[in-house]
Amino acid sequence: MASKTSITRAITQNRVWQSVFRQGYPNTEENRAKVIMNTLFFHIHPVKVKTHSLKISYTWGMGVISAFLFAVLVATGAWLMFFYAPSVERAYNDIQALETAVTFGMLLRNMHRWAAHLMVLTVFLHMCRVFFTGGHKHPREFNWVIGVVLWVLTILLSYTGYLLPWDQLAYWAITVGTNIVGVTPLIGEQLRLLFLGAKEVGPEALVRFYALHIWIFPGLMIILIGVHFWRIRKDGGLSSPIESAEVQQGETK
Ligand code: HEM
Repeated sequence: MASKTSITRAITQNRVWQSVFRQGYPNTEENRAKVIMNTLFFHIHPVKVKTHSLKISYTWGMGVISAFLFAVLVATGAWLMFFYAPSVERAYNDIQALETAVTFGMLLRNMHRWAAHLMVLTVFLHMCRVFFTGGHKHPREFNWVIGVVLWVLTILLSYTGYLLPWDQLAYWAITVGTNIVGVTPLIGEQLRLLFLGAKEVGPEALVRFYALHIWIFPGLMIILIGVHFWRIRKDGGLSSPIESAEVQQGETK
């Protein structure tokens, strides 16, 4: 009977296998490292990670869950665009039709809404975890700042999406919200005009909120999530309890 090693060797020396996987079977340190480096989906990870950073008790998994929810939002949002037009004549009816006449429309809309609600929660919890584990300290200050922008974008995406159904709830929420923006000292009225494109909530505001919601804010979010992940790699992976103790010692010296 052929041994396990000879079967493994036969598979990994096969031309089809070699055309897909450029390294041998991942049973040595070198091959395992190559799997990570040569695979499109894996190479976001460093070849070596500290064991504590894989523990759910350290990260709470909130960063990854936030990224997953954002992907769900992009996918369901793109699908929603097939059934929605940002015009005051159509918007409300389009949403009604989505709930009643489109196959799986209600599921689609609720997936988008729930993912948005959950993302606000998970990004907030992620921010708390980073703070409580000292992940915001040197050398990760810049990534913390990127994170703060991601948090603001998460809120702005929720806010701009709120107007789109063009129902009473949306209309008055946006009226109240933009009135609050309007009392910002010095630039309040200009800011309100910038958001609304007019003196009152109307068709101009709907088009502006739509453009911000489907294109500008998600585009910025994708770029900044890319920078965020790249910084994690460049800062030597996740913070660690030992590192935090060293930083604290440095502060008290
Ligand atoms: C769209 C929102 C966000 C996504 C998708 C995201 C994603 C991630 C992921 C996947 C990690 C790896 C560790 C982990 O899962 O906890 C991480 C780490 C980190 N995040 Fe975020 N994040 C977001 C928002 C934020 C916010 C709001 C902040 C802070 C204001 C922040 C600051 C950081 C920092 C400093 C690290 C490194 C932490 C460490 O080394 O311990 N992130 N982020």
